[in-house]
Amino acid sequence: MIRTIAYIRKSLIDYYDTNEIESFINIIFNNIYNYSKKEMILNASKKLAEDEFLKIKNIVDQLEQYIPIQYILGSTYFYNLSFNVTPNVLIPRPETEELVDLILKKYSNQKLNVLDIGTGSGCIPITLKKENVIFEMHACDISEKALDVAIKNASNNNTEVNFFKYDALSDKLPKQNDLDIIISNPPYVTEKEKEQMESNVLDNEPHLALFVPNNDPLLFYKAITYKAKKLLKVNGELYFEINEAYGKEMEELLQQNNFEAKIIKDLNGKDRIAFGKLKA
Ligand SMILES: C[S@@+](CC[C@H](N)C(=O)[O-])C[C@H]1O[C@@H](n2cnc3c(N)ncnc32)[C@H](O)[C@@H]1O
Repeated sequence: MIRTIAYIRKSLIDYYDTNEIESFINIIFNNIYNYSKKEMILNASKKLAEDEFLKIKNIVDQLEQYIPIQYILGSTYFYNLSFNVTPNVLIPRPETEELVDLILKKYSNQKLNVLDIGTGSGCIPITLKKENVIFEMHACDISEKALDVAIKNASNNNTEVNFFKYDALSDKLPKQNDLDIIISNPPYVTEKEKEQMESNVLDNEPHLALFVPNNDPLLFYKAITYKAKKLLKVNGELYFEINEAYGKEMEELLQQNNFEAKIIKDLNGKDRIAFGKLKA
């Protein structure tokens, strides 16, 4: 293993910083052997079989093309649960874990009717259902390929979520109403912000999940807020993950639509969650 680790470090040094390379090494050995960091040290002198080395070489070759490790391995962790990911779904982000954590801390063991709009890998509804089994979870996405991944993830994690295809920008409402909570992490990166994005995101993650036009950055938030007014019970709650640049605008949008509004910062101190409670 020591020689293979040296090979990984040497191959990637011109592409990534050293912390990232060490993190790849841990992820690779965890994925192939299920080793923790401690087990890696204990097994450092283990000799790898030829096919095991070739598997690692193949991963390294793809990392050199800046393909995200999660897509190369086909899986990632979110809130300590394992999720399959394909290039048809966004790789779940730590900010979204913060959103899920906020909801779980607020509602332990309450029977609530919950809808997630733009579910991608299904990381939000599956985690909520896993951690609070009495939530009745519904989740939708416009992408059938994303829904296929989400359905598989729900089954792998032994959770029941009602997934359905739905276009959040259409005039129609989904049939689920009388909801207690609506959650959405919709596309929110403007085309002009593209230039500042890392090429590994830009070249590999689905643009359908990421981008909104420059002239209407709140496109999804407006459509979903308007629908939420009709789908939520009085005092029902709306949770959005948002673009840090639009906290103020999001607060105003919610207030104009009869919601009590609050903007919550993420661990990096950036406006990240917009919360609304529907008034009577
Ligand atoms: C930023 S991703 C979020 C994925 C997942 N919820 C997460 O947090 O990792 C946005 C999702 O919205 C979906 N989406 C894009 N346009 C949509 C539309 N018009 N109606 C419903 N979903 C849409 C995309 O397919 C994508 O899965």
